[in-house]
Amino acid sequence: MKTLLVGTGRAAFHLGHAMKRAGLDLVGITGRNLQHVDQRSAELGIPSAKLADAPGKADILLIAVSDDAIADVAMNIPISDAVVIHTSGASDLDKLLPHPHRAVLWPVISLSPGEPMDFNEVPLIIDANTALAHERVKGIAQAISHHVTELTHTQRELVHASAAISLNFPLHLLARAQDLLADHAIDPSILMPSFIAMAQKAAAIGASEALTGPARRGDIGTVRHHLDRLTDDPELRAAYARLSSMILRAYGHPDHGYTDV
Ligand SMILES: NC(=O)c1ccc[n+]([C@@H]2O[C@H](COP(=O)([O-])OP(=O)(O)OC[C@H]3O[C@@H](n4cnc5c(N)ncnc54)[C@H](OP(=O)(O)O)[C@@H]3O)[C@@H](O)[C@H]2O)c1
Repeated sequence: MKTLLVGTGRAAFHLGHAMKRAGLDLVGITGRNLQHVDQRSAELGIPSAKLADAPGKADILLIAVSDDAIADVAMNIPISDAVVIHTSGASDLDKLLPHPHRAVLWPVISLSPGEPMDFNEVPLIIDANTALAHERVKGIAQAISHHVTELTHTQRELVHASAAISLNFPLHLLARAQDLLADHAIDPSILMPSFIAMAQKAAAIGASEALTGPARRGDIGTVRHHLDRLTDDPELRAAYARLSSMILRAYGHPDHGYTDV
């Protein structure tokens, strides 16, 4: 199956490399910024291409552009029997209308600039609206990863929300906690070994088991003390209180009304 890559950002970079490594036939790359297209084309060792040439040239068009641009980009691709795929966990298949064969291939991982990732262990979620689209998206997904799951859009929305809760929020809280230390001339990197160990422990024994700290133990005195130290930052203090309340209740302790702080 010949695949044309549409987009030049982080997802295009990593998926492009993963597909090349798996020996899939990437026939070209295209995007709105010619400089970016040339750069990615050189990195991936594939020719730059034009969207208008896609029909006849590719059996699969893999659109890896910003969520808000998917519909416009899809509209500009001439209609054909090619399967058109996007890579967004937050977008439904209708964004790819009016193409008859539509699919999604969503890597459930944070893709950053840097070295190409090993995609074998990256969970991929797929979905499709026709048998042909299903066959082709599954073919790509299984060639680049050992972890392929099929989910509907409603299910994908839940995974997306869960990823935001479990990944984005802890990172934001880490950044805020590090700012707090830096404001008091304490090296923020002091938190990093525990942060890394926490993720490894959650993977090994489960998040509920791995959780420690005053709220889990029901050490209300310590929780109160922390709240007193956060009065300069009411927003962070409110977040601390709300999360402590949630943990206290989850582990069978009275929450002492911290949700009202
Ligand atoms: N990064 C992740 O962690 C990740 C993980 C899973 C899935 N995804 C999905 O992958 C897709 C791409 O994300 P990304 O992280 O690769 O984003 P990105 O690095 O910001 O790249 C965005 C790409 O979209 C192009 N683009 C933006 N607006 C456009 C428009 N109006 N018309 C044409 N092209 C446009 C950009 O072109 P220029 O080069 O000209 O700016 C660039 O090639 C998204 O649907 C995202 O949800 C991302």
